[in-house]
Amino acid sequence: MKKQVLLYKKLSPLLMARLHEQTEVTLIDNLNADGLAKLRDALPRAHGLLGASLKLDAGLLDLAPDLEAIASVSVGVDNYDIDYLTERRILLSNTPDVLTETTADTGFALILATARRVVELANMVRAGQWTRNVGPTQFGTDVHGKTLGIIGMGRIGEALAQRGHFGFGMPVIYHSHTPKPAVEQRFNAQYRSLPELLQQADFVCLTLPLTAETEGLIGAKQFALMRRESIFINISRGKVVDEAALIQALSEGQIRAAGLDVFEREPLNHDSPLLQLNNVVATPHIGSATHETREAMATCAVDNLLAALAGERPKNLVNTKAWKA
Ligand code: DGY
Repeated sequence: MKKQVLLYKKLSPLLMARLHEQTEVTLIDNLNADGLAKLRDALPRAHGLLGASLKLDAGLLDLAPDLEAIASVSVGVDNYDIDYLTERRILLSNTPDVLTETTADTGFALILATARRVVELANMVRAGQWTRNVGPTQFGTDVHGKTLGIIGMGRIGEALAQRGHFGFGMPVIYHSHTPKPAVEQRFNAQYRSLPELLQQADFVCLTLPLTAETEGLIGAKQFALMRRESIFINISRGKVVDEAALIQALSEGQIRAAGLDVFEREPLNHDSPLLQLNNVVATPHIGSATHETREAMATCAVDNLLAALAGERPKNLVNTKAWKA
């Protein structure tokens, strides 16, 4: 008998066909109240789950006694209680690697957009307010040659360092759990403590995962260490930052600008003070959101799920302790 898969993300026809060939699929194509009710109804029969952007806690997963595997279409796994999954021996997989370059591109888009005030000035043109050549009040600040500070030197941090070092001639400094000699050699990067990095970087970029340890890592004390000219970029998770402290730092000119792809609450509230600030570029969590990369992520997730349901170890198993060969 085919295994039951509960899909809470639409896939391309090609990937749908692959899943249908090997499993019985129930599609929840919208995570609104109706969709969530449908999901709860289907969980008792599910062997596998595939999707993204849904907090799957014990309250929901207790409804799924036969669940064997969850394939998350994301690299971040902050939506899952890993200890709970491991205890139940539910295999959790994610989609690293395939989104690294695209997410680093998003980081650089935010670096350039904030430094050169791209959104603010493009809006000025659109509003018919370009009536004379721009002067110092509209000037931005250089990116090339400035110091790139990366907090969290994983795959995405490295891809950002590569762009900064080779593309923009930027000195790279970084902070992570442990120094990374290979990264230092490739990009001439230098390790710094967190306070040192905050004091020295022109661009402070967050690329680390949200965990109990990183939640609220950057708050008022950390913004106070940054220079008035520095720009803050977040492509990791909103909860790594105390958003109220960020708003205060931006409003009081403690830092120059912020490029934000992630927020404490998503979607961001329309009345967020962040949206009143000209020195903020806010994007709707588009880190990996290109046609090519999202298809590659979905393919990776389908591969992971089908492997797990066939009793094989998925390539991108997160909770390795749940695997008993
Ligand atoms: C990821 O893959 O974790 C992206 O941030 C989308 O959630």
